[in-house]
Amino acid sequence: MRIVIDTDTKRLTLEEAGGQRSEMDLYTPESFAALSRQWIRVGWAQRYSYGFTWLGRPVIQLPEDLVRTQEVIWRTRPDVIVETGVAHGGSLILYASLLELIGQGRVVGVDIDIRPHNRAAIDSHPLAQRIQLIQGSSTDPATVAQVIEAIPPGSRVMVLLDSNHTKEHVRAELEAYAPLVTPGCYLVATDGIMSDLHDVPGGHADWTWDHATAAAAEFASAQADFALEDPARPFQEGAIEQAVTYWPGGWLRRR
Ligand SMILES: C[S@@+](CC[C@H](N)C(=O)[O-])C[C@H]1O[C@@H](n2cnc3c(N)ncnc32)[C@H](O)[C@@H]1O
Repeated sequence: MRIVIDTDTKRLTLEEAGGQRSEMDLYTPESFAALSRQWIRVGWAQRYSYGFTWLGRPVIQLPEDLVRTQEVIWRTRPDVIVETGVAHGGSLILYASLLELIGQGRVVGVDIDIRPHNRAAIDSHPLAQRIQLIQGSSTDPATVAQVIEAIPPGSRVMVLLDSNHTKEHVRAELEAYAPLVTPGCYLVATDGIMSDLHDVPGGHADWTWDHATAAAAEFASAQADFALEDPARPFQEGAIEQAVTYWPGGWLRRR
């Protein structure tokens, strides 16, 4: 695709390889969406999301996704937040910091490989008492059993899936973790943006079909009690409705 940004005429032109051409006013939501799509693609290739921390721990996410997650946690008030995919622990610390403010709740983090330095940093963090780590593959029944054991009966539960992002793995995680999610709370299949990254440096050709968004769509069409639904925005006085996200089609609300 060829993109022409003309700040003199205030027009944006998109020319597809097949010859299709569209032109629009530069200062519009439509133009913002087209430019954001390329911003996401260039940023992913440059590891933009590998540059942030939360209360001292690296968190590998796009900041807009973190803000939306914060909005959901503040509104839905889960007692337990389960996340598969811990890495450096920054996302667990973020959830724990919100639960600390709310005054209750625990975070359960699952990872197939919790590196000793990451475990030590999480265990010595001021919010450590709100976090439980479980090492194992997220789809291993023994791991899922440990997660279930970590959830007190009657808890409101939210789950985020951020481990291995292949369609097959996420589909299996959705089956394993969906029953834990409380009605009104969310099950989130992160990083489906891979579908639009197959042709950028570092991407893979099979990401056109092999991604979390496809797993979430398939799961939602088979499960009447889950709705594929971006969370409502508690504040919206701007013109941009569409999220700038790594998690397109990833939010499943339990009805
Ligand atoms: C994208 S990182 C998680 C980022 C983290 N949630 C954050 O926001 O900073 C993915 C993690 O998933 C873990 N992982 C990969 N395959 C897994 C599996 N089958 N089960 C559990 N964890 C897995 C990796 O070890 C890695 O730490």
